[in-house]
Amino acid sequence: MSIKSSNNQSAELDAETHEIEDVALDTNLRPQALEEYIGQQEVKDNLNILLQAAKQRGEKVEHMLFYGPPGLGKTTLANIVAREMNSQIKITSGPAIERAGDLAALLTNLNAGDVLFIDEIHRLNKVVEEVLYPAMEDFALDIVLGKGPGARSIRMELPKFTLIGATTRVGMLSAPLRDRFGAIFRLEYYSTEELKKIIARNAKILGAKMENGAIDELAMRCRFTPRIANRLLKRVRDFSQVHGHDTITQKAANGALELLKVDHLGLDKNDLRILEALITKFKGQPVGLATLAASTGEEEDTITDIHEPFLLRLGLINKTPRGRQATEMAYKHLGLTPPKTTQQTII
Ligand code: ADE
Repeated sequence: MSIKSSNNQSAELDAETHEIEDVALDTNLRPQALEEYIGQQEVKDNLNILLQAAKQRGEKVEHMLFYGPPGLGKTTLANIVAREMNSQIKITSGPAIERAGDLAALLTNLNAGDVLFIDEIHRLNKVVEEVLYPAMEDFALDIVLGKGPGARSIRMELPKFTLIGATTRVGMLSAPLRDRFGAIFRLEYYSTEELKKIIARNAKILGAKMENGAIDELAMRCRFTPRIANRLLKRVRDFSQVHGHDTITQKAANGALELLKVDHLGLDKNDLRILEALITKFKGQPVGLATLAASTGEEEDTITDIHEPFLLRLGLINKTPRGRQATEMAYKHLGLTPPKTTQQTII
């Protein structure tokens, strides 16, 4: 909890050079209000109560944590919370806050009611995290002046702000940090029906006409993730335009996705490489994360954050205490015959 006074100057400099942004980001396709937001019904219902209650009492809204795979709308929801509360949002991330002084600079620049959004909050270091505890709980900053026996501590009052944390790895958050959030929301993968609505909405915003078949195609192949749906939508629109169509047909959507090497379930080259490694290199045996990462050339974090949740959701892999294992469905997806051993359930 020591923010040395000598650190203050460098902390300010760092805070400036790190990415601390006011609202704007990508406002193009992101819904701006809760009622425009499609999906995550349970989160929206709870969030609505939280926001209404805070507004009625004329208080700032509780600190909250959003967790779940990337691209499901954590940042979008944080922006919506700020907008609904008529407050400003400052956006930063766990790895950008290197020192206690960086966080102190951020906190002392907030105004009452502001939202501080920390993405990848699981990557905050211990020293910074400890500065956050009194800031979240008591809106106070404890500053240690000097060193050794002569050191003394002063407490500085902070404006009443709302911290919104986002993480893909809720398990990596320490219990004391997790416990200081008034509300914790898990974001789920979207259903195909929800994705169809999102794609139709966003195609309209982009001024792109689409056949229903093209919307279906994208919704089936976007990894249940709006961010990917939007990215594919833009690529499919490009493809269609370059081929001289004024409406995006299902055939054009198919052609674009084939060119992008996105298969009919939404798997990309890296997913396929993982499945192939599990099936061919490791002959269907359970494989540990480090081994799988080394053999596919992927980062461990990329496997756990991006590929694994998606492949699990599709039922193409199982996670057993001994490692990841391809399922019978994975063999079939690759056009291979599953061996008898993969059919046993390992608990
Ligand atoms: N665009 C991206 N995500 C969205 C969502 N959840 N609802 C509406 N539009 C979106």
